[in-house]
Amino acid sequence: MTTAAPDSTPIPADPGSPAPAARVRIGLLGCGTVGGALARLLEERRSTIEARTGVEISIGRVAVRDIAKSRDVGLGAELFTTDTMSVVEDPEIDIVVELIGGVDPARDLVARALELGKPVITGNKALLAVHGAGLYAAADAAGVDLLFEAAVAGGIPLMRPLRESLVGEPVTRVMGIINGTTNYILTRMSEEGASYDEALAEAQELGYAEEDPTADVEGHDAAAKAAIIATIVYGAIVQADEVHREGIAGITADDIAVAARLGYAIKAIAVIEKAGEGADGGPEVAVRVHPALVPLTHPLASVRDSFNAIFLEGDAVGDLMFYGRGAGGEPTASAILGDLVDAAVNRVNASSARIGSFARAVVRPVADLLSAYYLSLAVVDQPGVLARVAEQFGRFGVSIRSMEQQGLGDGARLIFITHTSRESAVQDTLAALRELDIVSDVHAVVRVVGDEI
Ligand SMILES: NC(=O)c1ccc[n+]([C@@H]2O[C@H](COP(=O)([O-])OP(=O)(O)OC[C@H]3O[C@@H](n4cnc5c(N)ncnc54)[C@H](OP(=O)(O)O)[C@@H]3O)[C@@H](O)[C@H]2O)c1
Repeated sequence: MTTAAPDSTPIPADPGSPAPAARVRIGLLGCGTVGGALARLLEERRSTIEARTGVEISIGRVAVRDIAKSRDVGLGAELFTTDTMSVVEDPEIDIVVELIGGVDPARDLVARALELGKPVITGNKALLAVHGAGLYAAADAAGVDLLFEAAVAGGIPLMRPLRESLVGEPVTRVMGIINGTTNYILTRMSEEGASYDEALAEAQELGYAEEDPTADVEGHDAAAKAAIIATIVYGAIVQADEVHREGIAGITADDIAVAARLGYAIKAIAVIEKAGEGADGGPEVAVRVHPALVPLTHPLASVRDSFNAIFLEGDAVGDLMFYGRGAGGEPTASAILGDLVDAAVNRVNASSARIGSFARAVVRPVADLLSAYYLSLAVVDQPGVLARVAEQFGRFGVSIRSMEQQGLGDGARLIFITHTSRESAVQDTLAALRELDIVSDVHAVVRVVGDEI
């Protein structure tokens, strides 16, 4: 796809010097953790980028909320303003980098930039997971880049491989650890036997978790990223509110220890898979984020601390894994810088990377999802209990793969791992088990992924 010739200005030639670089000026919206790191990284890398691409990228203007805040970013005070729209509309600005986050006013700013034919780079998952469809279509209509490598898994190159290298690959499933905070918490619980509350407090102390950790621990952040991955992998729009979401607060150190003994790690996982064909011939997809037992032999089980990883199963390519820092100013700025160089070179060459205009995906209801399950029940310790419990599984066609009893007397527990079963059948089984006088509590119900049986 081509665009109108860029208004970037060539640097005057010096006789005998190499070909003049084209100049591209960016308007930076937001100069916080990522925007500030980008400004520093761009300064550090400017001459290398220019030597390798023939394009000189500079920051023309910066919009922030508080102009008086001190920022160690090496940019003159005269570049800063609080008027975001004036930066977008400034005719001297060639490319807009949106790093303020949230939906408003980011949505209007991005839409306006695209309308003006200006490429946009953003790291804003919240925006794309809700308004991606309209913005992708606007970028396509304008024939300009809308690049968002940093919106999913921070510094890990994922969007570009999915959009470019794997665009012709029939991807059967993507499983990802795409929230560093929950991975950090579960790692501490697993390696130190810490309780959920202790591990969360440690994550907050280290700055991995916000004071209000809801977005991370209840899966909202991962759901937004999973929606973006599903959209790009299957070429059909999935929105954040269509992603089935479960948080990690119900996982105990004891569940983690039992799972480890059975050969599994408990991880907060996003699963994005093709579930079938929709009525209109488009893909039917299943997208969910929840804690899951992952076999210790699976590559995702060894992803520790706040690291992210995305494991992709392709029909032709086989298994692939992308691993790295999913957040943090510098890793995320690195992803933004990669997009920026691409967009700048495309701008100079009057071209752009097409995203595609997507229809809405058919999203399979969670009741119809198939998975194996780990179930832990507190039971009365008396003869005949196992037979009565097993009977409930049989009633709903849920097949048991393994079972063990733990503890005696009041502490007696039955631990089951099922074969792959329909979610609705497992929920029916659980409802029937809760009715039994011999089951005093259903401690844990966690899906098992990565070892389909
Ligand atoms: N941090 C990460 O690790 C990470 C990873 C991946 C993606 N991202 C995404 O990157 C984006 C930026 O994140 P961040 O961590 O850099 O956020 P941040 O540290 O909170 O920075 C936000 C910046 O935007 C400015 N801002 C906010 N609202 C504004 C408004 N209405 N008008 C003008 N300026 C406004 C703030 O100005 P002041 O400085 O004056 O307050 C600040 O400079 C978000 O979309 C986030 O989801 C972040």
